[in-house]
Amino acid sequence: TALETFVRGLPKAELHMHIEGSLEPELMFELAARNGVTLPFKTVDEIRAAYAFSNLQDFLDIYYQGAGVLLTAADFKDLALAYFRRLAADGGTHAEIFFDPQTHTDRGVAFETVIDGLVQGMEEAERTLGVTSKLILCFLRHLDEASAFATLEQAKPHLSRIAGVGLDSSEVGHPPAKFARVMQAARDLGLKVVAHAGEEGPPAYVWEAVDILAVDRIDHGNRALEDDCLTARLVQDGTTLTVCPLSNLKLCGVSDLKEHPLKRMLKLGLKATVNSDDPAYFGGYLLENYVQTAEAVGLTRDELVTLAKNSFTGSFLEEAEKTERV
Ligand code: ADE
Ligand code: ZN
Repeated sequence: TALETFVRGLPKAELHMHIEGSLEPELMFELAARNGVTLPFKTVDEIRAAYAFSNLQDFLDIYYQGAGVLLTAADFKDLALAYFRRLAADGGTHAEIFFDPQTHTDRGVAFETVIDGLVQGMEEAERTLGVTSKLILCFLRHLDEASAFATLEQAKPHLSRIAGVGLDSSEVGHPPAKFARVMQAARDLGLKVVAHAGEEGPPAYVWEAVDILAVDRIDHGNRALEDDCLTARLVQDGTTLTVCPLSNLKLCGVSDLKEHPLKRMLKLGLKATVNSDDPAYFGGYLLENYVQTAEAVGLTRDELVTLAKNSFTGSFLEEAEKTERV
């Protein structure tokens, strides 16, 4: 369609994408066979049929299970490269990808294996596709502070490859304040700080991310709109929100894409961006998120350009690069 062609032609960065969430069922089977791992599914169709979620936890349970096929550096490299090919096909030119080391180290996969494989994929993507990328290490918030600190310790020899830290996994019951000290320690190491907040959790969690963690970006942030004072604060600070429309739909944060707050966010003056979150599980990569949302809520060409520009101004690229690459 004309809309698709227009959006594909806009240079875009993706700022909210969990690399484990880009594991397509086909690759899951390939890696399971390669590594001698048994999956509880027999066919790709059976896996896709299981991807009907009613909330975040529902999804997380199956997402952590899927990640169990990732064992070697080659697996992580293949996973990353497959994602970068999809991104390039969508007209994406830069990505800041999340990875969840604890999901792997808790299964006996070394931190080094994960990061070495991902970095190999990132370097090959830059060489062969011209797509640049950065890594954001996410702490699993359903685990405790000590486990996050142990993970940060493992990251220390690799800080030149890591742009920032984030918080993901089960939000409700695990407010940002739980990780205040480890996020401060990460900042002291020169890392950027982001956090999922307001995906399912209340506005109070977004306040904590802003006031206690002093985040550089908010991941999702949808529920911030329930609090006018908080919304005004995010507008005033120019805080980038990494919004994930198809994820919100699949995890039942909105009942219909037509109800999605993206257009409202832009009208309020929030620095919203469009992202895919876990594209293999939510049925759409970056371009699909732009196009389906544009059709559902009626985004203008100007608004689409703004979203694409916000993805660079909200990125962790050098200031000069942000303006050169839009
Ligand atoms: N991990 C992967 N995707 C996530 C999401 N949307 N929210 C929280 N944790 C996640
Ligand atoms: Zn996410």
